[in-house]
Amino acid sequence: MSPFEAVRPHLARAGSVVFVTGAGVSQESGIPTFRGRDGLWRRHDPMRLATIGAFWEDPALVWEWYEERRQNVLAARPNAGHLAVAEMEGFADVSVLTQNIDGLHQRAGSSRVVELHGSIVRTKCTSCDFAGGADVRTTQAPPRCACGALLRPDVVWFGEPLDHGVWERAARLAGGCDVMVVAGTSLEVSPANSLPAYARGNGAAIIEVNPAETALSAHADLSVRDTAAGALPGLVSEFAMMRG
Ligand code: OAD
Repeated sequence: MSPFEAVRPHLARAGSVVFVTGAGVSQESGIPTFRGRDGLWRRHDPMRLATIGAFWEDPALVWEWYEERRQNVLAARPNAGHLAVAEMEGFADVSVLTQNIDGLHQRAGSSRVVELHGSIVRTKCTSCDFAGGADVRTTQAPPRCACGALLRPDVVWFGEPLDHGVWERAARLAGGCDVMVVAGTSLEVSPANSLPAYARGNGAAIIEVNPAETALSAHADLSVRDTAAGALPGLVSEFAMMRG
């Protein structure tokens, strides 16, 4: 039996589906999560690597750490979970609100992706408003912008606010959906962890996909204890059966 059978009435009526995704969705592509057993924040102190203060203290260290992760991301491939999210566009109006900075949803074919925490394949200037594309050179120290200041990864660091426009868009999409699928996130980081409340405010059904329990599990309409690559293709099959 499909685990999604329990929410079929909600799926049948769903015009707009919003996915809220986190590091767990890319775990099966070989990208480590932050808080799990092998999570990055178990081995590294985020205050030394993921704050603007850390960057100014040791720009080369921070740049190299991101450079290593960037190479890992560029070598990774979307998994069955990312592909299922993209395939859902055949059956509903789909938006992806992701905390991931790896671009794998876009590479899997998702067309409306809101990157809440930025992108590791882009850089931005620490001084002017330059933000650059994916053609970042592989260097051991941060390259410089045309204006002379150091470039940094275009990601949101601890203590930094989300881009205002990005957050407004995410909150609007979450607040207008019929079904929200929250996959691969511990929901420990604000404000992304408030997105399910926006969906609830609209009367949306909330489905969680996560091998571990989270603070959302008890409140979701359905909490599927499986991985993203294991469960999400089944969600597409449900939609295909109802609407195909
Ligand atoms: P976390 O590492 O906090 O949580 C990952 C979640 O994915 C956990 O709940 C796991 O149980 C689950 N998980 C693990 N493997 C999975 C799989 N194969 N399929 C589905 N779920 C799986 O990652 P995030 O919630 O994304 O922010 O973390 C949020 C933010 O904290 C990140 O964006 C990052 C970090 O600090 C910034 O860097 C700003």
